[in-house]
Amino acid sequence: MTQSFDRHRRLRRSAGMRDIVRETHVHTEDLIYPLFVKDGKDIKNPIPSMPEVYQWSLDLVDAEVQEAVDKGIRAIILFGLPAEKDPIGTSAYDTEGIVQRAVRQIKANHPDLTVIADTCLCQFTDHGHCGVVHEGEILNDESLDLLVKTAVSQAEAGADIIAPSNMMDGFVAAIREGLDEAGYKNISVMSYAVKYASAFYGPFRDAANSSPQSGDRKTYQMDPANRREAFREARSDVEEGADFLIVKPALSYLDIIRDVREREDLPIVAYNVSGEYSMVKAAAQNGWIDEKAVVMEKVTSMKRAGADLILTYHAKNIADWLKH
Ligand code: PBG
Repeated sequence: MTQSFDRHRRLRRSAGMRDIVRETHVHTEDLIYPLFVKDGKDIKNPIPSMPEVYQWSLDLVDAEVQEAVDKGIRAIILFGLPAEKDPIGTSAYDTEGIVQRAVRQIKANHPDLTVIADTCLCQFTDHGHCGVVHEGEILNDESLDLLVKTAVSQAEAGADIIAPSNMMDGFVAAIREGLDEAGYKNISVMSYAVKYASAFYGPFRDAANSSPQSGDRKTYQMDPANRREAFREARSDVEEGADFLIVKPALSYLDIIRDVREREDLPIVAYNVSGEYSMVKAAAQNGWIDEKAVVMEKVTSMKRAGADLILTYHAKNIADWLKH
C-alpha cells in the first residue's frame, strides 16, 4: 500500500529531534530590560499593577542593574520619574535630570552595558502629553525642539541609544540632526516607529505616572485598526535616519512585526508592553497559567514574527529560564 499522507510527526518524536529542527530561538542577548528611575533616596516602590516591577532611586538602582548584568542581559532602557513637572517638561532636558544622572551613574559602573534612554515628555509635563499643548492641541513642531534638547542631553550624559517614543511627525529627522550637530554622530536612534494608541499601556502609566490629564493620545499614536499606516510610519523613520524600529505593543501586533520585517532591513524591536506583562502575571498569580511556558511562548512568537530584539519586563525571568 502506498502512503498517501506526510508523516510530520517524525520530526516531533523526541525532545532531541525537536531540538534540532527548532526554527526560532530566544537568546538573553535579545532582551532589553526596562527600568523606572525616580528622584529621591532609598526608594524601591512596587507598582501594584506590575508585580515584581519597581521604581528605583539612584542609590538603589545599581544593585538591580548588577543583577540583570549578572544574568547576561546586555541592554537596559531607562524611564525617568522627575521630582518636578511643568507644562514644557523642563526636567526632561535638564543636565541634572533624573534620566541624565541615571545614565551617568550606570554607565560609570557598567561601561559595557548598552544604556538606552527613552526620549519623551509625558513623564515630565504636568498635563501628561508627549508634546507641547496649546489650547487643547498637541503642537508638533514646537515639541520637536524640546525633544531634540532632551535627546542631546541624554547623549551628553553617555546614553548609547536614544529611543524617542513621542510619535510627533519628523522626530527622527530632528533628533538625528540635533545629535549630529552636537557631535553625537555615533549615537544611534531606536525609534518607536510604529506605536499604537493602545489600552495595553495602562499599567505603565501607573508605573511612570504619565497619564494624560485630559484627552488621549489618539492624535499622535496610531489607530489599532490600521496596517498600511504602519508601513508609512516605518518608512518615514528609515528615511529620517533611524537605526532600529520599534513596534509597540507586540502581542496583538505580531502581524505588523512580520509586515515591517518584510519591508525594512533595520533591526526590529518588539515592545512587550506593560498590559501584556500584567495580564500574564495576574493569571500566573492565580495559578491559571504556567508563567514560564506562557512567557517563553509569547517571546518566541515575537521572534518568529520577525523581531530581533524584545523589550520586556520579563527580561530577568527569561534570562534565568534560558540558563536552565
Ligand atoms: C511614553 C511611553 C509609554 C510607554 C513607553 N513609553 C506610554 C504611553 O505612550 O502612554 C508604554 C510602555 C508600556 O506600556 O509598557 N511615551
